[in-house]
Amino acid sequence: MTHVSVVILAAGQGQRMKSDLPKVLQPLAGRPLLAHVIATARNLAPQDIYVVYGHGGAAVQAALADAPVKWVPQPEQLGTGHAVMQAMPLIGDDHCVLVLYGDVPLIRAATLRELIANAAGGALALLTANVPDPAGYGRILRQADGRVTAIAEHRDATEDERRIPEINTGLLAAPAARLRGWLSQLRKDNAQSEYYLTDVVAAAVAQGCRVEALIAAQEAEVRGVNDKAQLAQVEAIYRRMRAHELMEAGATLADPARIDVRGEVEVGRDVFIDVNAVLIGDVRLGDRATIGPNYVIRDSTIGADTEIHAHCVIDRATVGARCSVGPFARLRPGATLRDRVHVGNFVEVKNSELGAGSKANHLTYLGDARVGKDVNVGAGTITCNYDGANKWPTTIEDGAFIGSGSMLVAPVRIGAKATIGAGSTIAGTAPGGKLTLTRARQTTVEGWDRPLKADEQERAAKIAAATGKPKT
Ligand code: UD1
Ligand code: CA
Repeated sequence: MTHVSVVILAAGQGQRMKSDLPKVLQPLAGRPLLAHVIATARNLAPQDIYVVYGHGGAAVQAALADAPVKWVPQPEQLGTGHAVMQAMPLIGDDHCVLVLYGDVPLIRAATLRELIANAAGGALALLTANVPDPAGYGRILRQADGRVTAIAEHRDATEDERRIPEINTGLLAAPAARLRGWLSQLRKDNAQSEYYLTDVVAAAVAQGCRVEALIAAQEAEVRGVNDKAQLAQVEAIYRRMRAHELMEAGATLADPARIDVRGEVEVGRDVFIDVNAVLIGDVRLGDRATIGPNYVIRDSTIGADTEIHAHCVIDRATVGARCSVGPFARLRPGATLRDRVHVGNFVEVKNSELGAGSKANHLTYLGDARVGKDVNVGAGTITCNYDGANKWPTTIEDGAFIGSGSMLVAPVRIGAKATIGAGSTIAGTAPGGKLTLTRARQTTVEGWDRPLKADEQERAAKIAAATGKPKT
């Protein structure tokens, strides 16, 4: 198989965005448009990915510093053909060149594979689409037998040509050696005085080279993004595509329009996902997991038969099977819940493990804690893990019972089956199997009166005067 070199055009300014952020860095599902294109290109396992950059180049490179791409500057934007020319000296003659746009983010790898296959054997392979409103796009000109002869840019097209609904998506694949030759023939004699990449079609035809036009099966995947309205449209399409993938994988969605998948989500069988979901990064939902409304889950694993109730935020956490989380729970990075754990409302868990069957049902903070099995953490318990400078660990062994309102001042250890009396402040080891509590003795103060407000004092004084009894 021939090597594939991908060239992503990303030098345009994107003036219509009216933004300080370069167009290709505008976010789609929380990631730059260009990052989506690079991710798709990587799926093709190409030899190299070149990104042609210009406007806001430093910002683009900084935002995608980790991307495995080669950066090619295009100091002056003299057209799409000129942009591709900048990368050509770096590409071997025997490669297949695949041209992508940094602002066409929804393109699927499967479509691109077909495009590359069409270019094998020496053809120029174009990706086209039939769209309801072709205004602004280049139109595909075909002769009577259907063969493609040229692309007419909208601004250069005649009235008749403008009625053609088949448009140029801009994406194409071609053998490098031939493309190099066609590009060398480009002239700027057009409405925009630019080197149009589209003119390689006429050059190929003149050379007697085959031009294959692949009509995109889904028009949505070739949508370009030029302004904020199109950005929102593409976001909606993306959301719909990702929701459909989840449903195809067997998940039941309360409303596919109200879920945002911004990453890779894996679902087991019979998962139920309620409305207003945001799933970010790598998320795994086990068989029969149910997710209540209004939550965010990021880079986390949720076990089988676990119920996540409404309004939870789960970030880089691992939740076992048959757990119950929320409503209003927050699992922070490093939270690990083993099986059958209950974490209830207004409970925050950070870098802590809760052993099987343990419960923290109300108003609790567990930070840097190792909690054993079948532990009951009472309402309002707080691990005081931070002394203002360092974080300290808390250990709670199997079967311990922590009374409500306890402060566990770390580093601290609660032994197996220990019981902590409610309202205690525990700063030393609490031995296993025993009751430990710190509690001031309860006293009742005799002869104490509540302070009175001014008008109450006056009234009391009058009563005292009238009855002759002095006010106590
Ligand atoms: C281009 C096509 C048109 C097609 C349309 C699809 C040409 C001449 N026209 O038109 O047939 O229907 O895309 O959206 O190719 N870019 C550079 N350097 C440049 C110019 C552009 O990197 O000097 C990049 C832009 O950042 C963008 C892409 O190339 O990602 C397309 O450029 P744009 O100016 O938007 O092309 P269109 O006029 O829309
Ligand atoms: Ca464009």
